[in-house]
Amino acid sequence: MDLISIDSLSDSDIATILDEGDRWFDYNRQPRRNADKLDGLTIVNAFFENSTRTLLSFEIAANRLGAQVVTMQVEMSSIKKGETLEDTARTLNAMRPDALIIRHGLSGAPSSIASIMDCPVINAGDGSGEHPTQALLDAATLRRRFGRIAGLKVAICGDLKHSRVAHSNIKLLTRLGAELRLAGPPELLPDDFQGDGSIDAAVDGADAVMMLRIQRERLDEEFGDAPGEYLDRYGLTAARIAKAAPDVVVMHPGPINRGVEIDGALADDPTRSLIILQVEMGVAVRMACLDLLTAERLSP
Ligand code: NCD
Repeated sequence: MDLISIDSLSDSDIATILDEGDRWFDYNRQPRRNADKLDGLTIVNAFFENSTRTLLSFEIAANRLGAQVVTMQVEMSSIKKGETLEDTARTLNAMRPDALIIRHGLSGAPSSIASIMDCPVINAGDGSGEHPTQALLDAATLRRRFGRIAGLKVAICGDLKHSRVAHSNIKLLTRLGAELRLAGPPELLPDDFQGDGSIDAAVDGADAVMMLRIQRERLDEEFGDAPGEYLDRYGLTAARIAKAAPDVVVMHPGPINRGVEIDGALADDPTRSLIILQVEMGVAVRMACLDLLTAERLSP
């Protein structure tokens, strides 16, 4: 089994990951974590795009489960000598890893790699495609805070066109029964987007507001916003959040661009911001994903 998209998961897989993620979250707060569930397994990380949270949390997750973790040094690899991604995958496969975590700038790359690899492949973000483990950790964080997801009004705001986080979250949160409100600047909305994309309307009465960074690296031309302009027009400000539900929470997958898509003070507000909790939940949910995906290999 691979985890390429939210569509790779059955409803029961999703329930298992959220439940087990919640369990690992508590486990991770203990002073010592020496689980040996993945003892003897080798997990390889291959990240062809930058990452702080996702890469480190996969490394820590695999370590906490007792696996051996190897992170490919992409900058030092033979990709720089002209090797194709497929040939790199054949090389990695020959070393018999038990799971491969891949992040790549090309949408669809993890799925082509999965057809070469004999082990489970996890998509840790593919261009503007999907980022399923981020959506799973977001759902687990919401559920921990509210005790449910069904019926929650969740606003997802920003670069909906290029954000793989948005694409996976839209699929997952819809399946879990949330009521989504999508918003962003017209230039950054998907071509088939319905509605006016107003952030004020999306935030009005929302239980959760998830802000997204402009994916400038995926734009053909500069977005061209003057300092402060994006925040005023499309960002999360104190004035906008005041119209949300009284116990609204603020989410962001990171990295945050303070003063662009979000007012820094809101990101830091301990009563409302779940941003740091999302990071903590990221390790736990990735432990649950690694455990679920490698279980088939461990069963006789
Ligand atoms: C996101 C990503 O890489 O897609 N970051 C993350 O994984 N936490 C979001 C982003 O880069 O904007």
